[in-house]
Amino acid sequence: MLASLFAMMSMATNAQTYLDPNAPLEERVKDALSRMTLHEKVNILHAQSKFTSAGVPRLGIRQLNMDDGPHGVREELEWNTWSPAKWTNDSIVAFPSLTCLASTWNRELSEAYGDAVSEEFAFRGKDIMLGPGANIARTPLNGRAFEYMGEDPYLAGEMLVPYIKAAQANGVACCLKHFVLNDQEIDRFTVNVNVSERALHEIYLSPFKRAVEKANIWTIMGSYNLWKNVHCCHNDELLNGILKKDWNWDGALVSDWGGTTNTWEAAMGGLDIEMGTYTDGKLRESEFGYEHYYLANPFEKLLKEGKVPMSVLDDKASRVLRTIFRTAMNPNKVIGSQCSEAHYEACRQIAEEGIVMLKNQKNILPIDATQYKKILVVGDNATRSLTKGGGSSELKSLRDISPLEALQTLYGDKIDYAQGYYAGRSIYDRVDAIDPAKQAELNAEALQKAQGSDLIIFVGGLNKNHRQDCENGDRESYDLSYGQNELISQLAKIQKNIIVVMFGGNPYSMPWLNQVSALTHCWYLGSESGTALANVLCGKVCPSGKLPITFAEKYEDYPYVKYGPEAYPGVNKQVHYKEDIFVGYRHFATNNVTPRFPFGFGLSYTTFSCSKPVAAKSGNEVTITVTVSNTGAVAGKEVVQVYAQSPKGELPRPIKELKGFAKTKLLQPGESQTLSITIPVEELRHFNDSQHDWTLISGDYTFHVGTSVNDIFGKATVNL
Ligand code: BGC
Repeated sequence: MLASLFAMMSMATNAQTYLDPNAPLEERVKDALSRMTLHEKVNILHAQSKFTSAGVPRLGIRQLNMDDGPHGVREELEWNTWSPAKWTNDSIVAFPSLTCLASTWNRELSEAYGDAVSEEFAFRGKDIMLGPGANIARTPLNGRAFEYMGEDPYLAGEMLVPYIKAAQANGVACCLKHFVLNDQEIDRFTVNVNVSERALHEIYLSPFKRAVEKANIWTIMGSYNLWKNVHCCHNDELLNGILKKDWNWDGALVSDWGGTTNTWEAAMGGLDIEMGTYTDGKLRESEFGYEHYYLANPFEKLLKEGKVPMSVLDDKASRVLRTIFRTAMNPNKVIGSQCSEAHYEACRQIAEEGIVMLKNQKNILPIDATQYKKILVVGDNATRSLTKGGGSSELKSLRDISPLEALQTLYGDKIDYAQGYYAGRSIYDRVDAIDPAKQAELNAEALQKAQGSDLIIFVGGLNKNHRQDCENGDRESYDLSYGQNELISQLAKIQKNIIVVMFGGNPYSMPWLNQVSALTHCWYLGSESGTALANVLCGKVCPSGKLPITFAEKYEDYPYVKYGPEAYPGVNKQVHYKEDIFVGYRHFATNNVTPRFPFGFGLSYTTFSCSKPVAAKSGNEVTITVTVSNTGAVAGKEVVQVYAQSPKGELPRPIKELKGFAKTKLLQPGESQTLSITIPVEELRHFNDSQHDWTLISGDYTFHVGTSVNDIFGKATVNL
């Protein structure tokens, strides 16, 4: 006892490198670790409240404060429960959903997003933001697709990198989620994903790898589901093998909340911080003290018994200390701000560029208000707060401008409104429990008002209710709910000038498409939702968003559907990704299935011409050069997309794979810009299951250059 007291006193006189902000990070980590007792090391590896993990108060080492993510800072919850803490100063800016960010195809906006959102986290005293998300839109039914970046691993990865870099430059760690294969919400706690090694690497791991290698992501969240029948929060092969050894990652792996299920696996399977664990199938959290966490007393016992080597403990503790010094004890961490005008500005710009215009017959858009006396807005999403609901990404936003509000500001008395249908208010209101009489009454009111209008703007789509776009449940159908399809058709019969505006994180069927004049898809747009939408509809902003997800004509066209329930949502808690690498457009393009709207597609108010692409190889890179000219009458932006087609090899390959893209600046009418898109040759490799490694096939590579995967304006070939 006395001896250890002396040891502690003598240590205290040593230079405290770990507290020196100018000392190299690894020296701070080593020094701090050398001063900690075994119990203190264990103590930083698990939660001490719902959203914090402990530091070492005796040594002045700070705790880690975490919060959801990914679209803004979540409302403050009580220390020990999921109930709101009822703070009055925790209202924030709600940023657009990540699917909307992906739709901008604009890396600068991604950087602006990461910068602004992390400033809000910093101001609220947070060190780790639980986001962004990088799971793949494999099914249009996934309840959480809105939190991710679409179906293509390259687009997702490229858009993640600037976001993460900007946030971490502010001293706030991103926690990229959910690693990995958490591509459905049905059975998310129990489903085991069977996927080929090739699809795992080429599709599902790819955005995470890019975030590790190109953005040096500081923390990653393990997913609930299993891979090779082991939970991904403590899956040795996945976490110690692929992530930490093969990718050489030095960050901390955080469990998803309640995703840890076993002490031995938690100890040996690569988990560093255990969060949100509760007992008995996640029922009785109040009786379960933090000292009972798998990585608390039970882990300490294994260490003391010599069953787990101390090196395992030191590795985990070092990763957590590294995270603390990178964030909570980072002298360059910004103070940040909350609800600043600059944040609203970023929010609005991202929203405006993420809106995708899918149809615009006879140029009904932008709206020429002089032509209309009465504009009828119909639909629940015209007034509903879409920052509420959805699960852990729900936000308490200070400003939440609805489409109706913004359209009223723009067009004043010309605007009339009818709700048209009822979509439930509590997130657990079931679609089939909605009173048909109430629905009929709202339908009738809208149809009656339609008679007296000369333009209808229908604002509908999905919402954040359970089994719409919401955590812990997938959509029940590819069709829109609440009778929207029938209502749109009926409205279109009365008034042919009808503009449809849809919100949602997923595609849906559109049996009414031929009857309507225009369609824009808005994802979720955040605090400035209405303003951004109105700016696009009135023409103040020229749309430039492009789909990051294929919109199929019918559900059966998605690649896994033909394989039946084994391929989704699984049978006996086993799901088999039988479509393999042919996810999204990789399937539609290769197997000649015509989508309703292809990946990468989006219309503009202006027109562009693109020069014949020129490809040049230099060293280990191929550069494609294209000149884009605005040939229309208004200023606009265009996205040039490069899809590679590789020479025939032993393995099947998609006919087109996105390998590069660039967005022009705002081009004035008549203005041109030359874009150079560089593709490192290693990006053209594929993963070879038999060699367990990446290989490059030699031969002619064709680069299809276009404005969507199906709108190719030129090709260039390079021999590699
Ligand atoms: C979600 C995570 C979230 C966590 C904390 C989990 O249920 O899957 O994405 O960060 O809860 O709210």
